[in-house]
Amino acid sequence: MRVVSGIQPTGNLHLGNYLGAIRNWVAMQDAMGDGEECLFFLADLHALSMPHDPAELKRATLEMAAALVACGIDPERSILFNQAQVPAHPEMQWLLNGTARMGWLNRMTQFKDKSGKNREGASAALFTYPVLQAADVLLYQATHVPVGEDQKQHLELARDIATKFNHDFASEDAPVFTLPEPIQPPAAARIMSLRDGGKKMSKSDPSDMSRVELVDDADTIMKKIKKAKTDPEPLPSEAEGLEDRAEALNLVTIYAAMADKSVDEVLSEYGGQGFGQFKLALGELLIETLGPINARFRELSGDRESLDTILAKGAEKARSHAAPTLEATYRALGLVR
Ligand code: TYM
Repeated sequence: MRVVSGIQPTGNLHLGNYLGAIRNWVAMQDAMGDGEECLFFLADLHALSMPHDPAELKRATLEMAAALVACGIDPERSILFNQAQVPAHPEMQWLLNGTARMGWLNRMTQFKDKSGKNREGASAALFTYPVLQAADVLLYQATHVPVGEDQKQHLELARDIATKFNHDFASEDAPVFTLPEPIQPPAAARIMSLRDGGKKMSKSDPSDMSRVELVDDADTIMKKIKKAKTDPEPLPSEAEGLEDRAEALNLVTIYAAMADKSVDEVLSEYGGQGFGQFKLALGELLIETLGPINARFRELSGDRESLDTILAKGAEKARSHAAPTLEATYRALGLVR
């Protein structure tokens, strides 16, 4: 088993990233056996697909590295690095650009969402971004990729690219690429905004109140949960009662994921009660879990030297892991080396 996943270093980690992906990263890291490995990276090259401020990108990259370690990613056991220190990523992207089809990229919903009405003004990087994401995982022969639901389409594209490349340039018994499987957390694959149950919780939402960030202090967490949008009905005692109540469902989902319970178990405890009590319990649960993460984050984020060392060591390992597949790809394409 080889696990590979990434996160963009744009702004702070929030509950959606944490419950939808990072917690799964830590669980997979802790379950690795002999000869198995996890590679986790900061997708700083992906961040170039949207307008960005260079100083802010640098700050966010280091901050995200500190946040991942604070969440439990152990750089001694997992390979933790940023893409920009591993040139094999953009190299592999170029090699795969010849295999990816325009039609496939045209179907990517994230490009449609992020380019909005101004398609002509979107960067070329935003359009070819999923090819870089395919390169990220195929480079390492990833078998499993833990992601939230919004990234599933990109993973399917990686599988399509790998399948076509293997078919066009390799033989069936000696494929160049392994087909990666997405791994989604069952309940928390899609954590929604606290202000609008129809929108996913996202770093790019202009409202701070729409998300709980992993670096929020206890008072801020409680304030955000208390102000979270709900409806006037009490909580139902079974999950069916949450249909068409997106905001209520989201809060119960967050509670269930944080407490490692099912939605029904949470409702059997809180069904019939109003949101006042439930929000208090949810706020306390979040504060209890995020408190230690927050403390570790504050300690680490001031330690630039340690962060630089962690990323440099991780990148060195990543480069050597990537080398054989990159070389095999060049050769399969008939490029003289
Ligand atoms: P990014 O940085 O937007 O998000 C990182 C991870 O968090 C998950 N996630 C969520 N899960 C549930 N609910 C939400 N509201 C929510 N918001 C974010 C995402 O699904 C993701 O797993 N393109 C990727 C980064 C990337 C990558 C890769 C991932 C680059 N290369 C290779 C996997 C493999 C991205 O922008 O994720």
